[in-house]
Order: sequence, then C-alpha cells, then structure tokens
Amino acid sequence: MPLPTESDTRPGTPEPSATTDILSTTPTASDEPLQIRPPEAGEGAAMWRLARDGGELDLNTSYAYLILADDFAATCRVAVSGGEVVGFVLGYCPPARPSHVFVWQVAVRSDQRGRRVAARMLDDLVDGLPEVEAMEATVTESNTASRRLFAAFARNRGAELSWSAGVRAEDFPDGHEAEPRLLISPLSRS
Ligand SMILES: CC(C)(COP(=O)(O)OP(=O)(O)OC[C@H]1O[C@@H](n2cnc3c(N)ncnc32)[C@H](O)[C@@H]1OP(=O)(O)O)[C@@H](O)C(=O)NCCC(=O)NCCS
Repeated sequence: MPLPTESDTRPGTPEPSATTDILSTTPTASDEPLQIRPPEAGEGAAMWRLARDGGELDLNTSYAYLILADDFAATCRVAVSGGEVVGFVLGYCPPARPSHVFVWQVAVRSDQRGRRVAARMLDDLVDGLPEVEAMEATVTESNTASRRLFAAFARNRGAELSWSAGVRAEDFPDGHEAEPRLLISPLSRS
C-alpha cells in the first residue's frame, strides 16, 4: 500500500459518521446517494480503472481485481454513486489467520475524498464480518493519508494499532519502499 503522493491537507470537510448498513445511502459531494456494499461480479473492472486513474496505487492486473471482486467479495467493498464505482476496498482473510482481514488496497476517487467514504467502507467491511477480530494492512511510511485513515479507524473502534516489519524494502525486487504491517485489534462492532 504505497504512496508518497498524498498531501497532509484534507481535500474536503468530513461529514458526520453515517450508518454503515450495506444498503444505506448517504449524500456525496455530488448530492448523489452513496451506496456501500460488496462488489458484484464484473465490478472488478471498475475497481481496476479507479486504481489506474488515481495514479497513486500499485496497479495490479485487471484480472486480480476481477478475481478478488468475485471470489473475495465478502472481504471487499465498493462505494457507488450515480451508478459509478467511486471507491473500493480490496481485502481478504489470510488463510493462516482467518480471524483477521487484510486490507490490501483502499481507493476513493479524488472528487469524493474527505467525506469519510474510505472510513465508511472500512466500517461496513468489518461490520459485515462478525467473525473477524483484527484488521491488517501494510502502509509505507510516506503514505500519510492511509496512515491517518487506519489510525482514525482504530481510534473510532477503541482498538490498539501496532506495527511490525511487514515487507522489507530489501525483499522487493524492484526498489519498492518498505511496507510495514499494521495490526488493529480487538475490533468492536458499531
Ligand atoms: C487514502 C484514501 C483512501 C482516503 O480516502 P477518504 O475517503 O478521503 O478518507 P476519509 O474521508 O474516510 O478519512 C478517514 C480519516 O483519514 C484521514 N485522512 C484521509 N485522507 C487524508 C489526507 N490526505 N491527509 C490527512 N488525513 C487524511 C481523515 O482526516 C480521517 O481521519 P479523522 O476521522 O481523524 O478526521 C484516499 O485519499 C485515496 O484514495 N488515496 C489514494 C490511494 C491510497 O493511497 N490508498 C491507501 C493505500 S492502499
């Protein structure tokens, strides 16, 4: 989960927390209702486009988003507004730690940022996984927005956030920045 390009300035004014029920609707910047739910088959394509167009994430193959959105829909989320996917969470439960959810990527379209879209997707994800006790992710040191997102999530859940080595820079074959691993636990339900 790299990304040194986020500024430390919020792109907009956050709105009060909204319900995270899967079919709940919340106004967005464009006044279109926002729906947060697991992706439907084929929406991996829109997730891939969002990751590509943002230009900030490590872009995986389109195939990876399609497979994850289909086979791992329960641990992924999309935010849909005006019929378009404006945000996504890509995640899975590591087989060795089935009570953990690993958040691989989070993205929100630039015109929707600062409105708690990412926060609401993480809330909806965890609320839909009652068996999950902890959240994991890796975040580069330079990705302030992502670090703040997970710190706020942990704080709002009354959980501890701890760090371990994660994926070291020397383990990457391509000069990638280190990806320290965070653990948020225990998860309380809203
Ligand atoms: C990171 C990202 C998903 C955040 O989405 P968002 O919908 O704007 O985030 P939210 O509005 O839900 O904010 C949640 C928390 O993170 C903080 N935050 C989010 N973006 C921030 C930024 N650029 N700078 C500082 N804090 C930020 C918010 O202030 C909020 O914390 P608070 O409750 O203490 O105020 C979005 O900026 C993005 O898509 N970035 C590019 C992709 C990326 O880097 N993804 C993460 C790594 S995979």
